[in-house]
Amino acid sequence: MDMGKTAGKHRFFKLMANSGLALSYNDVRLKTGYSEGLDSIRMTTLFSRRVPLNVPIVSSPMDTVTESKMAITMAKFGGIGVIHRNLTPQAQAEKVVRVKLHLNGLVSKPICVFGDETIEAIEQRRQEKGYTFQTFPVIDRQGKFIGLLTSNDYVFCENMKSLANQVMTNSVITAPSGTDLNKGYEIMKEKKKKVLPLLDNNGCVVGMYVFTDLKRIKTGNSEGYNTDPKGHLRVAASIGTGEEEMERAKLLIESGVDAIVIDTAHADSKPVFMMLKNLKETFPDTDIVVGNISEGTSARGLVEAGADGVKVGQGPGSICTTRIVAGVGCPQVTAIYNCACAIQKSQIPVCADGGITYSGDIPVAIGAGGHSVMLGRLLAGTDESPGDIVYIRGVPYKGYRGMGSLGAMQESKSSRQRYGQSNAGKDQLVPEGIEGVVPYQGSVTNLLYQYVEGLRRGMGYVGARSIMELREKADFHRISSAGLAESHPHDIDHIQDSPNYRRP
Ligand code: XMP
Repeated sequence: MDMGKTAGKHRFFKLMANSGLALSYNDVRLKTGYSEGLDSIRMTTLFSRRVPLNVPIVSSPMDTVTESKMAITMAKFGGIGVIHRNLTPQAQAEKVVRVKLHLNGLVSKPICVFGDETIEAIEQRRQEKGYTFQTFPVIDRQGKFIGLLTSNDYVFCENMKSLANQVMTNSVITAPSGTDLNKGYEIMKEKKKKVLPLLDNNGCVVGMYVFTDLKRIKTGNSEGYNTDPKGHLRVAASIGTGEEEMERAKLLIESGVDAIVIDTAHADSKPVFMMLKNLKETFPDTDIVVGNISEGTSARGLVEAGADGVKVGQGPGSICTTRIVAGVGCPQVTAIYNCACAIQKSQIPVCADGGITYSGDIPVAIGAGGHSVMLGRLLAGTDESPGDIVYIRGVPYKGYRGMGSLGAMQESKSSRQRYGQSNAGKDQLVPEGIEGVVPYQGSVTNLLYQYVEGLRRGMGYVGARSIMELREKADFHRISSAGLAESHPHDIDHIQDSPNYRRP
């Protein structure tokens, strides 16, 4: 942050700190300034050092918020989802794969069949493994590509005992490894081919493009999708600490995860620093985001230890009771500001995690220094979150619970570990979160639209054309309880809920 441009904000927080005051969302609103309109506003930002976002929204690694369905929608909206870890490492990795394969830009490890296998055996394997496709590259026993088994070959095959190399299509258009998505699409269009295997110099299959997938990417409304260089949706996943969690990280990275989030209740702690060091040494090519923290010294320590992103928030979440149970934590706006300032020179991104109640809190979080916000409750009541709809007196809800709630800790070792209670017996658990329900709200896409457009309006009022400018230009008013009451609708009876507003 340029100190010159942000003098106002720094003066504000210094004044507050001098009076011993730490502030949260309901304590402040952003000052407005000259604006050139909403059209030129850009929302690109970073989740971590090498993982970009098209919009600054991240879904929380909670078992009632983010599995593959949520992560797919988040990435399609330009954000990213963090798959929770109250799952076996295999199940969590499988959810990462589902996100990565959703667009199938490049099928990097196509399932191949051998030329001397019978169609019957291939079909049996297809059924057993639940493959929904019928097109397979055919290879010889030396691993060299010899043809393609297509759905047509199946249809016209009269004898299931035939070998793949007897019924396969022999004249196949292929392309060399490294052919990018655009080139692949052009070749397939020109040659009218539905599948394009990519071969290395030895004639072995190293990838495959499927025309319908590429067409969906190229012609669909995919401009804002958050994709990796191979055209796959981006996804992150959370882990804990210790040897077992190194194994989890390995599996997730092998599955193509874009960033690992060490997700703990207190990241400024020895096990987290050890985990970070191990991960950075073992997997230097994967970004590691570390949380949670709420003090500048913690942020600086983690960044010096190699963190590629930090996650800020100890106790602001809607389901959190950490501050009440343990008496610790810093109100969220001051926590974001202090952490962002402490690591400002490193340019490592800050994710503001928890406590966002309305879309208007998002520009406040970013104005205070966040590069992105992480949402739990605001996404939990949707079709894309895990869990079923429950009806209470005829009204639809979905369950939402803290990862440190009694239920989550009783069910999952990962939850116990997040709160440093791995070895506690079931009667010794000390919950730091609660379980409840939130209103069912249909598809998350409609909500994300409201959150992003609320942010755009906030940026417009401040006169910021980019996330970076919002971080630089933001200045705050401290508001009183009268100011807060005035900010919400008042003196009106029978207020109707609107798509971006429910009464507190
Ligand atoms: P929101 O306000 O978006 O907050 O619902 C979600 C964030 O809350 C954190 N979290 C917890 N914090 N006890 C806590 O103190 C818990 O049981 C708990 N579960 C989740 C987490 O950082 C999440 O992203």
